[in-house]
Amino acid sequence: MSGYADGLRSLDAEVRVDDLPLTGTLPEWLRGSLLRTGPARWEVGGRTMNHWFDGFAMLHRFGIAGGGVSYSNRFLESKAYRAAEDEGEIVYSEFATDPCRSLFSRVFSLFDPKISDNANVNLTKLGERFIAMTETPMPVQFDGDTLEAAGVAYEVPGLLTTAHPHLNRASGGMLNYAAKVGPRNSYRFFHLGPDASEPQVVAQMPVKRPGYQHSFGLTEKHFVLAEYPFVVNPVSIPLSGRPYIENYRWEPERGTRFWLLPRDGGEPLGPFETDAWFGFHHINAYEDGGEVVVDICVFEDAGIVEDLYLERLRAGKPIAKPQVRRFRIDPAAGSVGSELLVEQGFDLPRINYGRSNERPYRYAWGVGTGETGWLDSIVKADLERGTTQSWERPGCFPGEPVFVAAPGGAGTKSGAEGGGNGSVATAEDEGVLLSVVLDSEKASSFLLVLDASDLTELARAEAPHHIPFGFHGQFAPA
Ligand SMILES: [Fe+2]
Repeated sequence: MSGYADGLRSLDAEVRVDDLPLTGTLPEWLRGSLLRTGPARWEVGGRTMNHWFDGFAMLHRFGIAGGGVSYSNRFLESKAYRAAEDEGEIVYSEFATDPCRSLFSRVFSLFDPKISDNANVNLTKLGERFIAMTETPMPVQFDGDTLEAAGVAYEVPGLLTTAHPHLNRASGGMLNYAAKVGPRNSYRFFHLGPDASEPQVVAQMPVKRPGYQHSFGLTEKHFVLAEYPFVVNPVSIPLSGRPYIENYRWEPERGTRFWLLPRDGGEPLGPFETDAWFGFHHINAYEDGGEVVVDICVFEDAGIVEDLYLERLRAGKPIAKPQVRRFRIDPAAGSVGSELLVEQGFDLPRINYGRSNERPYRYAWGVGTGETGWLDSIVKADLERGTTQSWERPGCFPGEPVFVAAPGGAGTKSGAEGGGNGSVATAEDEGVLLSVVLDSEKASSFLLVLDASDLTELARAEAPHHIPFGFHGQFAPA
């Protein structure tokens, strides 16, 4: 077993703890809750799911107030989870695990697909609603305090979607992607207002065989679609006898095709073709004169999906390493250039979103891989200088570092100089990073609070158990 194996061990306990043991000091201004989702149970009945991404979602809440940290966790009561609990077997199809089904039931499933609502990838706050999401069209609303699920949040206008929506600055609503599947397939982007329940499709284009999309880029003018050559013929999925992701084919000769879909619904621009890449996470995108800059954590191929099967991970097999690349699309020339931005690759990227998304920016944070092969360091990248710095500790495996911006004039270091009157602008990297870290020696996890500007440790709060490796979360200010 590898050093990080505890992060892939199921967690049964659901707890509420008012005060976690805390070392260090939290910034006075930091108040609110870090809400995270991620897989936490991979065994059902006598069966183990196949892939890291398959596990049943658990919500975690770290409440930060009065200089202390509370913690609670709860399985997301999705239909998929409820059915597995009640029937003692996997009932819904997950990312790389299907229920055991006869040919008859596979044909039947064409008319009654058991699409999972196991929202273990990410969550968002939309207006006053908290919504957990995966890549199926059934995002689950939940209570941000009790973590109790409250049913399907809204109807996605397509069969596939992403768990990485963007904020629509003008409305306070969200923008997300959907793939409509049927006799004619299309890529779609939709808007959902902060209090709305009906998404509006705002841009779309036809596609024969959609590429796998985990996230997308957004500029002031465009939705940016990176169509990696990992494609599927969706109508074949129900009868293939293979789990969802195993229907995708890696066809590197197609290259990566970028599409720019105007946010005002105008004609799509593209394809702009470059080498074959695969990626989960866009970092940021922006307009730059007549060009469009698109930064992505990419892999040389889609082999990373196979690397993350549990059997391989638990055996400590090698895992592909991400690269941080900048793609520069010149629509007038019809070309795409690409360059490596920093030597130290990382994934699970975060930026100072409120300030930097859709705009030129300098800093990104993420989780880097080192000698362990797994994600084992928190990385800050200065994209202007092409330099990085890291936080790493032996036996520690950090999750996504969520950036929380310091309020104006109340910075982590220069609060006194700033006067605390809210009138002094903060720097782009002024704030904290919140990361849930597995300490493999203690077989337990802690919430780590770092100064985002220089990665010095400000505080850590010890959780009462290990927290299985999750994917994403958000900070909701109090
Ligand atoms: Fe993701």
